[in-house]
Amino acid sequence: MSLTAPSSTPSLASSPVIITDPWTPEARQHALNQAVQDHCVAYFGRSLKQRNWSPWHDLPLEEMRERGHQLSEDTRTLIEGFMGVEEYVGDYVQDGLEMFRENRSRRNMHLQWGAEEAKHGVAWELVLQHSQARTEAQIETYLDKVRASRWRPAQHHGINSPLGTTVYAMAQERTTFFHYQEVRARVRHEYGLPLAPTPEERQRGYEIGASEACRVVSRDELAHHSLFLQIVRSALHYLPSLTYETLTQVFSRFEMPAMRFIPNGRAYLRAVRRTNLYSADIHKEKVHDPLLKSLGWDSQEAFEQFVPNAHGLSDHLDLNATQPPLEPLAP
Ligand SMILES: [Fe+2]
Ligand SMILES: [Fe+2]
Repeated sequence: MSLTAPSSTPSLASSPVIITDPWTPEARQHALNQAVQDHCVAYFGRSLKQRNWSPWHDLPLEEMRERGHQLSEDTRTLIEGFMGVEEYVGDYVQDGLEMFRENRSRRNMHLQWGAEEAKHGVAWELVLQHSQARTEAQIETYLDKVRASRWRPAQHHGINSPLGTTVYAMAQERTTFFHYQEVRARVRHEYGLPLAPTPEERQRGYEIGASEACRVVSRDELAHHSLFLQIVRSALHYLPSLTYETLTQVFSRFEMPAMRFIPNGRAYLRAVRRTNLYSADIHKEKVHDPLLKSLGWDSQEAFEQFVPNAHGLSDHLDLNATQPPLEPLAP
């Protein structure tokens, strides 16, 4: 039997494909570990060769300065909140490193992911500073306040395992991508630019001012989402019961990270409401339902009716398991 082309269940309509072969749990875990490693290696390739960028060296800071006065106070407040959320990157990485300590692929992946996230807080800081939206002293005070509180995975439902962390990250990255795309649209509108890049921007290869920061940071978030989505799809494929249970847990009370303690929390939430950036309904329409579709379910109903263990698979193994010894995969 091939690892890359397992036979699949015919058909719960609008449901993800799961394997039906009577593999041992260890064999399925091994196949999943291999798939995760392949996803991570492919991710590293794209990240290091196609998405490598530096917030200090690659953003059009002078254009931010020229156009900063055009940004509304709501847009400035939203970007300040984004900076706050990104600045908890040390906490996000620290807990993940502990969780993935025994899994070399995921540990390395987590380090790379953290290095990319660390640039995002800097990018938003530079936007605020060079747009003259906040002074250096204001930013320093803000960052001091960020450090005064600590994000922990236990603040979220379902992040109590490596798989839970991955499922949460998949949803969080998609939500973040959506938010940054929305703010890019606001920035472009306030700059008096069309949503799509102008011919001049296309020709020179980067967007104007803060729009470029939104573009490159969004591109990272989408790549993060895609990686975690691929890992969750593979987990669903090989460990359907455990993965379905974890998806149900994380989706049931999903909340974006650090919302309750970013320093400008109240102003940020007021700006979110005023600009209609995000709400429970928007999350369902723009994040949750498309995410379910990406995983293979046409609707929330189809997701709720899914029966992952219809074929008697017992798969409560952990993504964090160390690589099991090689063994034959055939039944
Ligand atoms: Fe980020
Ligand atoms: Fe991200």
